[in-house]
Amino acid sequence: MNNFTFQNPTKLIFGKGQLEALKNEIPQYGKKVLVVYGGGSIKKNGVYDSVMNTLNEIGAEVSELSGVEPNPRLTTVHKGVNICKENDIDFILAVGGGSVIDCTKAISAGAKYDGDAWDFVTKKAAPKAALPFGTVLTLAATGSEMNPGSVITNWETQEKYGWGHPLVHPKFSILDPENTYTVPKNHTVYGMVDMMSHVLEQYFHPETETELQENMQFSVLETVMDTAPKLLEDMENYDHRATIMLSGTVALNQSLQMGVRGDWASHNIEHAVSAVYDIPHAGGLAILFPNWMRHNLDVNVGKFKRLAVKVLGVSEEGKTDRDIALEGIDKLSAFWSSLGAPNRLADYDIDDSKIDLMADRAMANGAFGNFKSLERDDVIAILKASL
Ligand code: NZQ
Ligand code: ZN
Repeated sequence: MNNFTFQNPTKLIFGKGQLEALKNEIPQYGKKVLVVYGGGSIKKNGVYDSVMNTLNEIGAEVSELSGVEPNPRLTTVHKGVNICKENDIDFILAVGGGSVIDCTKAISAGAKYDGDAWDFVTKKAAPKAALPFGTVLTLAATGSEMNPGSVITNWETQEKYGWGHPLVHPKFSILDPENTYTVPKNHTVYGMVDMMSHVLEQYFHPETETELQENMQFSVLETVMDTAPKLLEDMENYDHRATIMLSGTVALNQSLQMGVRGDWASHNIEHAVSAVYDIPHAGGLAILFPNWMRHNLDVNVGKFKRLAVKVLGVSEEGKTDRDIALEGIDKLSAFWSSLGAPNRLADYDIDDSKIDLMADRAMANGAFGNFKSLERDDVIAILKASL
């Protein structure tokens, strides 16, 4: 196990009716509040009205930025930065899923920076200050509500990269599972695939003697796999929504990566695919991750076997370790398909015509992946296997 420092400063406020907490939290940061949200789901399900009523009650001066895209774009970050600078905003409130929160993170750092916020994404500059912000999460998936990461797309140049900085940890995040009741089936499924992928990225690391981390990781995977079919049968079940919401947060709030550094290559390849084709992040992961696994099986067959036996229920009898490991990967992919996730790039009408461009994007910072460092040929092979 590696040395590590763990500090997660985000206050997590979880459960029914917790939106009330805004009344205590926001006044600590000031009066001028920018509310950031997406394409309108919060207006349909009433979350917008509840947030605005609460902000009115505490006398906040509210500005708004709507229309944050799934796979949030740099142009929208720029709009938010301008609003903050022109209106002397004290605090930003993100109301939505990972895209809204990620966009808010870039706005919060961009508002305190003289250059272009894209410099943070491309690592040309690191933020030295950021406006404080909080979140009201409406979709369980990314863990962005309790981590310092953000993923931004520059649609003009077809680039999509992750970046992060401790300054952009949310001050607080309010997670009321009832606010996720209206998430449609496809995004509910993508969310569950995403959180499972986050656990898997962290599971695939080269360290040894990490039994506790592994057991915690397996526990999150088992919980999501057990709950997913029940939730899809009963989309307004509070307990299932709550279990999945907390799973998404725990899957990527850094607690599962104490002392280990995960792989993250599948995420990097997926970001390259959605930079070029603008597909839902975890739709891409459901396709790519099993093919990353098959490609890297021989790096450590034992690790794949353990996952297959302990989490995916593969029996060992009469099989080689490799067979067990491969069966586990097939079962994972079949499980995601059974929920309704895609399993071929062709499901998004993606063919081989832009494989080189996707590989270029994935290789933007050179070889990547901590369990197995991937070169361009590896990326091409994984993309081809995913067609
Ligand atoms: O825009 P609106 O109208 O709000 O609709 C959204 C959007 O169309 C809808 N939605 C959200 N809450 C809803 C709802 N619909 C009905 N009822 C609700 N309560 O869902 C759609 C997808 O939302 P989005 O925020 O894009 O989804 P997600 O949370 O999966 O975020 C995806 C983005 O996060 C990045 C991805 O790359 C992608 O850009 N990631 C961020 C990470 C992080 N910051 O740590 C890690 C992840 O690996 C991921 O890369
Ligand atoms: Zn993800």
